Formats: sequence, structure tokens, C-alpha cells
Amino acid sequence: MSKTKVSDLDWNNLGFQYHDLPYRWTDEFKDGKWQGGHLTQDSNMVFNEAAEELHYGQEVFEGLKAYRRKDGGINLFRPDQNAKRMYDSAKRLMMQPYPEDKFVEAIKEVVKANQEFVPPYGSGGTLYIRPFMIGTQPLVGVQRSESYVFRIYATPVGAYVKGLNPMPYKVSEYDRAAYAGTGQAKTAGNYAGSLLPSLKAKKEGFADCLFLDPREHKYIDEFSGANFYGITKDGQFQTPKSPSILPSITKRSLLQIAADQGLNPIETQIPIAEVDRFVEVGAMGTAAVISPVSSLTYEGKTITFGDEVGPVTQKLYDTLFNIQVGDAEDIYGWTVQI
Ligand code: PLP
Ligand code: COI
Repeated sequence: MSKTKVSDLDWNNLGFQYHDLPYRWTDEFKDGKWQGGHLTQDSNMVFNEAAEELHYGQEVFEGLKAYRRKDGGINLFRPDQNAKRMYDSAKRLMMQPYPEDKFVEAIKEVVKANQEFVPPYGSGGTLYIRPFMIGTQPLVGVQRSESYVFRIYATPVGAYVKGLNPMPYKVSEYDRAAYAGTGQAKTAGNYAGSLLPSLKAKKEGFADCLFLDPREHKYIDEFSGANFYGITKDGQFQTPKSPSILPSITKRSLLQIAADQGLNPIETQIPIAEVDRFVEVGAMGTAAVISPVSSLTYEGKTITFGDEVGPVTQKLYDTLFNIQVGDAEDIYGWTVQI
């Protein structure tokens, strides 16, 4: 694959795809320690055919963005939270966690080294950063790897779901993760398992699918790549409490913003049968930002929330995005300038 040049990019129409940028970070855990890490220009990785991750799936990853500010500077949004979540994911998968402070420093190195690829302010684009780690030991028996590679690549992206355009979603008959399984970890298998349900929903004309809790199929869990929220008729922000969903950093941030906007937010079990309690519904995540939902189809019945973005969703989006790009004062101390 050839390296992407800045002149190849149309900042206003980036899409959500991989570009081979000049630099990425790589570090290796061997002989019982992380080797220290460095930037490299080589976008290919070489490992043994019996590497643990290829067969038994020891893999964890993260996703965060770098935002171009109006003054030309660059913001990261809560990278310490990604470091912590990746630490927790690694523990769940019995992997060697990457030191959290080193994780944040390595992200800064990658962004600085590729800074001309951070899309311009106002283009709607961002630099998506993908830290990940894999178990590399050649193993035939199912056991944890004693060697790992930690890597961070970055790629300029546009919106994962375009604009604040409400889209129809379907409630899936499949599960994303088991009740006491790996749903709280950001690990490859959860996403591989969501491909078929997601493709089926898309073939039926939906933007994607929403998963229910895997134990009772009664409560809302989350989307394949984003958490769920709804705004009730009397203006409360509600989001599912479940052991099988990924703890979203966007959600945690919106819970704080919603509290400060008087939306009395709660994390609670939300029965799918009562989804008509909401007047606005959306997906929230790093890639999704806030993606409003126009309708939910469940067991042949469709509940509609409207084709126009709701006022509460619009305000939450504006508040969050303005903090991320540095247009609003960051009263929470969430942004890190590079
Ligand atoms: N849920 C899943 C399954 C995800 O993949 C993501 C994306 O990272 C999220 C939720 C949102 O998490 P965050 O807001 O930390 O990006
Ligand atoms: C993210 O939002 O960073 C994710 O990892 C979700 C993925 C579906 C792109």
C-alpha cells in the first residue's frame, strides 16, 4: 500500500477509511518488559502463523480523535480515559497492559509526527487514532501470550455517520456480547460477532442495529459501535446500565454535560417495550459522536422519533463538539493540547 500524501486528501469528503500515514508508534513486550517504543514508518506488521491473536483472539483496541482548533493548534479529548479503558480491556483478556502515562505520551508522538494530516478546523474532519495490542507468542494450546505488540496508527476521517441526520435502526435478534462475557472490553471478537447482524440490518434498509441485553432480551444494550441514549417526554437523559456494554467515554462526558443542562441524567435498565417513553433517541461514541435515531423497528413494529434532529440532541452535540474543538471553554478539563 502506498503512503497517503496530504495532496491526495479532500478534507471535506474524507469518509471513514484507512490512510497509510507516514508514522505510527510501536512497542514490544518481551522478556518480561516493554521495550520502550518508537515511531516507525513501516505500516506492515510481521508475526508468526501461530501467533496467539490470530487463533485465540488476544486483541484489544481503542479509538480517539485529534481535533484541529481555530487557532491552528490540536486538541485531544480525554486520552487518559482511553488509556484506562485499554488497561481494563487488557486485564479482561489476560494481556499485558500498556502503562497509561506511556499510552498518552505515545499518542502525542503519533499526532505530532503526522500533524499535517489533522484535518483543518471547520472541515468536519478529525484525525482518528487507533491504539491496539495483540498477543504474538506462537501457541497451539489455548493460553495467554507471553509476548505482545502495542501499536498506534492514525488516519484522517470524516463523520462515521454523516451529519446530524436521524436514521432508522433495527433491534437485532442477535447478541453482541454475553451477559458476563467480554462486552465491557474493547476487543476484536465483539466486533466480528456484530458484522452479520449489522449487515443484515443494512440489507433491510436500516442504518445499523441495536442490541438487547443477552440474558433476557428485554432491555436495551447498545449499538455495534456506540452507546444508546434517549430523552424522555419530560426531558430526562436516560442511558442503559448493563454489564455487557462498552463503557463509553462520550457517554460519560454527556452524562456530565446533561447534568449541567438540567436533564437529570440516569443510567438505568431501559425495557425495549417502553422505548416510546423517548421523544429523542441517539447513538453516542467517538466515531459516531452523536448520531440521532429516527426510528426503531422491533418485532415488526416501528416506533418513530422524527426525521429532524431534536433540540436536546442538538444542544448536547453542540456543547460536546465545541469543547472538543476548543470553541467553548473546557470547564471540565477534558481536552489536552498538543
Ligand atoms: N460502544 C461500542 C461497542 C463502541 O465500539 C464504542 C466506540 O468506541 C462506544 C460504545 C463508544 O465509546 P467511546 O465514546 O469511548 O468512543
Ligand atoms: C470508536 O468510536 O472509536 C470505535 O471504535 C467504534 C468503531 C465502530 C469505529
